[in-house]
Amino acid sequence: MFKTIFSKQIAILIVIVIVAFTAETSMFFLFINSVISRDKENDIENAADNIDIFMRLYLDNQSSRTATNQLRMAMERTGELHESIVMLIGEEGRLLLLASSGSMRATTATVRSRLTLEGAPSDGAQPSGGGPSYQLSDERLYQRAFQLTDGQSEKSIGDFFGIFRDTGYPWLNMQKKYSITLADGSDFVYVISIHTPMPLVQDARMSFLRSALQAALISALISIVIGFIFSRRLTKPIRKINEAAKVIANGNFSERINIDSRDEIGELAGTFNHMVVELENIESARREFIANVSHELRTPMTSIKGFVDGILDGTIPHERQERYLKIVRDETERLNRLVNNLLDMARFESGEYRLSMARFDVVETMRRCVISLVRFIEEKNIRIVASFDRESMHVEADQDSIERVIYNLLHNAIKFSRQDGEIRVGVREDREAVRVSVSDDGIGIAEDELKSIWERFYKSDKSRGQDKTGTGLGLSIIRNIINEHKQKIHVFSRLGEGTTFEFTLRRADGP
Ligand SMILES: Nc1ncnc2c1ncn2[C@@H]1O[C@H](COP(=O)(O)OP(=O)(O)O)[C@@H](O)[C@H]1O
Ligand SMILES: [Mg+2]
Repeated sequence: MFKTIFSKQIAILIVIVIVAFTAETSMFFLFINSVISRDKENDIENAADNIDIFMRLYLDNQSSRTATNQLRMAMERTGELHESIVMLIGEEGRLLLLASSGSMRATTATVRSRLTLEGAPSDGAQPSGGGPSYQLSDERLYQRAFQLTDGQSEKSIGDFFGIFRDTGYPWLNMQKKYSITLADGSDFVYVISIHTPMPLVQDARMSFLRSALQAALISALISIVIGFIFSRRLTKPIRKINEAAKVIANGNFSERINIDSRDEIGELAGTFNHMVVELENIESARREFIANVSHELRTPMTSIKGFVDGILDGTIPHERQERYLKIVRDETERLNRLVNNLLDMARFESGEYRLSMARFDVVETMRRCVISLVRFIEEKNIRIVASFDRESMHVEADQDSIERVIYNLLHNAIKFSRQDGEIRVGVREDREAVRVSVSDDGIGIAEDELKSIWERFYKSDKSRGQDKTGTGLGLSIIRNIINEHKQKIHVFSRLGEGTTFEFTLRRADGP
């Protein structure tokens, strides 16, 4: 039902309006009751006290006829003055006297018919003794009042347990309890009950209800209009992002979204655009990678095919075949190296590569690498200068991959050294790390190229001329290995003066 942001917002707004309306109306109902009735309450309570005076007179004068008349007149006056019904109630709900305003005969009649058990009392019913006794039919009408302490009153607004329901408006009901000690020492307890209609309360309630309803309706309408505009503004950019995402999913990375709001949606659009740029980079890196790989594969394969064809069709004479076959073998080896390197790289990048950490002597590893490259060292008549802090230094690392790092660095150093050059290899101890370095005094690397050498397939223009066997993957793999060890590798180089690579390894203490 509430599938769109718009419908959700409208639903929330309407709920808020209803809740506010209900709260406001009930607050008002409570408030209006007390405001309108407060003056009246005091008036009729005073009237009750006034009747009480005559009641005492009546009791003091042994129920004389004059006193009876005075009491009845006091009650009638009150009824007339306050437009109310006045009852004098004795214990057990005995109705001693009933008076009411002349304008209220009709109501009084219906009230009276409900009040009494045994026919209607005459307006001149005797307060005590003699004549028939009348009884309030419903206990609720007097029970609470008799539970009050003497002189205490209770007020309520409403239909007084249904008695005044037919009138259609609320009544102010006041009951006050009195007690008089008679000459014989006994207590005479009675309640004066005064009921005044409050059409004013009803009127105020109705007119308030009407205007509150109008206000609620208007605010609901305004909320819906505002909600409509706002959710439009909110959902429009979301829809834009959605559209853009679909276009991008189809491989069109040139798509950007143009939202310049400064809220979360604007932020989302910014992040989205950033993501698209990154995706575009990944995509172009992927394309470049494929182009590089194909290029690297094609060059040796073309020459292999050329030589093999030449041998087969006799273009290459028999006595020169061996020389060309050796080239074919070298190229095959290069292809092999390339493919192995590519596989390794793929393993690194997919996170498949697992280091098997062990404690080993890195000085020993260095020696082994130098020895395995001795053919190339001698070819170029390079002098190797070793500086080791100690004869053996142990580290905690993956031995095979570290051997590969050192081998590759040495191999590069030899490759990019001059004839009769010098290579310094060092293993030094730090507080926590062992630093391994390989320095040469070869061609060096231009400053603007220093960053790029770590990239896959990167070979500097200069090195391309000197070295045709490289794949440009060596340093990229080296960096992957060192990163995987959570260690650091740095390069320092000056064009024409030489290059130093240095990396750290975790020291394994003890001999
Ligand atoms: N010791 C060095 N001296 C000068 N240039 C170097 C040295 N080591 C690496 N480079 C530069 O970095 C590039 C990338 O090296 P590498 O990733 O090992 O690839 P490759 O050895 O296959 O060329 C080299 O082509 C070269 O330009
Ligand atoms: Mg290399």
